[in-house]
Amino acid sequence: MMFSELKSKWKDVESRQILALMDRQRVNNFSIQTNGLFFDYSKTNIDGDTLGLLLDLLKKSSFHEKREAMFSGKKINITEDRAVLHTALRAENGPILMDGKDIMPAVLGTRFRMLNFAEAIRNGEIQGEGGRYTDVINIGIGGSDLGPSMAYLALRPYTNGPKCHFVSNVDGAHINDVLEGLNPRTTLVVVASKTFITIETLTNAQTALDWMAKKVMRPADNFVALSSSMGRTAEFGISADRVFSFEDWVGGRYSLWGPIGLSLAIALGRDDWLSFLDGAASMDRHFIATPDRDNICIILALIGIWHAQIGGHATRAVLPYEQRLERLPAYLQQLEMESNGKAVKIDGSDVEITTGPVVWGTSGTNGQHAFYQLIHQGTQIIPCEFLIGKQGHEPDLCHQHRLLQANCLAQSQALMVGRNLDDARKIASLKGFVGDELERQARHRVFKGNRPSTTLVYDKLTPACLGQIIALYEHRVFVEGAILEINSFDQWGVELGKELATALGPVLMGEDAGEGNDASTEHLVQILRSNK
Ligand code: F6P
Repeated sequence: MMFSELKSKWKDVESRQILALMDRQRVNNFSIQTNGLFFDYSKTNIDGDTLGLLLDLLKKSSFHEKREAMFSGKKINITEDRAVLHTALRAENGPILMDGKDIMPAVLGTRFRMLNFAEAIRNGEIQGEGGRYTDVINIGIGGSDLGPSMAYLALRPYTNGPKCHFVSNVDGAHINDVLEGLNPRTTLVVVASKTFITIETLTNAQTALDWMAKKVMRPADNFVALSSSMGRTAEFGISADRVFSFEDWVGGRYSLWGPIGLSLAIALGRDDWLSFLDGAASMDRHFIATPDRDNICIILALIGIWHAQIGGHATRAVLPYEQRLERLPAYLQQLEMESNGKAVKIDGSDVEITTGPVVWGTSGTNGQHAFYQLIHQGTQIIPCEFLIGKQGHEPDLCHQHRLLQANCLAQSQALMVGRNLDDARKIASLKGFVGDELERQARHRVFKGNRPSTTLVYDKLTPACLGQIIALYEHRVFVEGAILEINSFDQWGVELGKELATALGPVLMGEDAGEGNDASTEHLVQILRSNK
């Protein structure tokens, strides 16, 4: 019902010019400042009424009780019968109860062990056969890869431990290219897999073990496992003191804050790791305690709902003007699309509105020279989410940072302001065009404008700031999922492909005839097998 009210509101305001709404007061009204972040959503067509309706939608959803349920350890992931408590991994202390039991002593115990291990690797107390570890390879995929690899790149100025490498793809090229040039006698392999059954990860881990066995007497001693399954890590040959475990109430794509972050903790060291967690925990406190209207997580989510579910914009671009956040869009693809790409509500009925949307993007200014053409002049409207820091980490290159900022602001401005036909005519005329040709040339230079964007400004991309930003997006997903009444914490949609791949593997290897496959698949199998 509320969706329909919002949809009719959308129709009323759709063609209204955002620019016409713009003044200083609007910027004050439609922005949030919190803990070193400034979030500007004035360059959307949201107004007071719309925001009121969106906040009503939220109020009428089960969001408030669900948030309370999540933080108090209730089993809100109903299809897997699990609590959702990744926030506990970054909490400073407890108690946090699950089934009446405080989980924090175990969380803090694992954190203590993990950080001691990370420090011992960094200071050389734990070494490989060839001496201090120079390299760490994290082998994992999805949530066991995207978080640490994205954050490792993001926090490059703070990394001063062994060099980290990340292998995810089952394509042998990935592990091959990473192993090339590494010394197995000074390389630590971190096998990151919550379930420890993921075929890509186990295959790559075995390849790494074989590689190491050629040069190292006790290869398994250079292996660490991050997993919820102690049994399977033991079967792989990794001793219990080299396993850092976590509970099933930590979802894969939310797992960066605990053992899955080990490679990052080794790279950063204890203090920066802890401030990374603190940054995220500060966003958790904001999410829990700040009234809806001023809650950055809630507002970001409501803008998402406004653009995707109400306005029907099928995608949103995440555009960090920070080269080191180049992998953020990939990280958010899993976080948002694996969480909220669902068609069935918690009660098993169909969702009556589109879920999604598709999340994509890359760092600015690179994207400007690739896909921004479509964002500015294409026929689809793509809401853009810009991120930009007040400061970079290169004091000698401040002028480059100013240029970066100028580009970021120029893009959101161009999207909103556009260029009308009269101005386009003037430009074409200056170029010497006249008559019909002037008209034709001018039309190509028109930007319709009125395209929405938000801008998140942060002070500097420190570990604490990155923690805040990731937690912000996590909570955004939660709010959107609650409004859509879906379970954001399962991922059944990835299962079928895994099952079929398991069956097709032996067919491609010639061990199974593969009867029962459809004609297209059968033919593709033949073609692929024809090149032995
Ligand atoms: O692709 C599905 C998925 O289950 C993700 O949710 C998860 O992050 C990834 O696979 C890896 O799983 P695991 O950590 O168990 O190896």
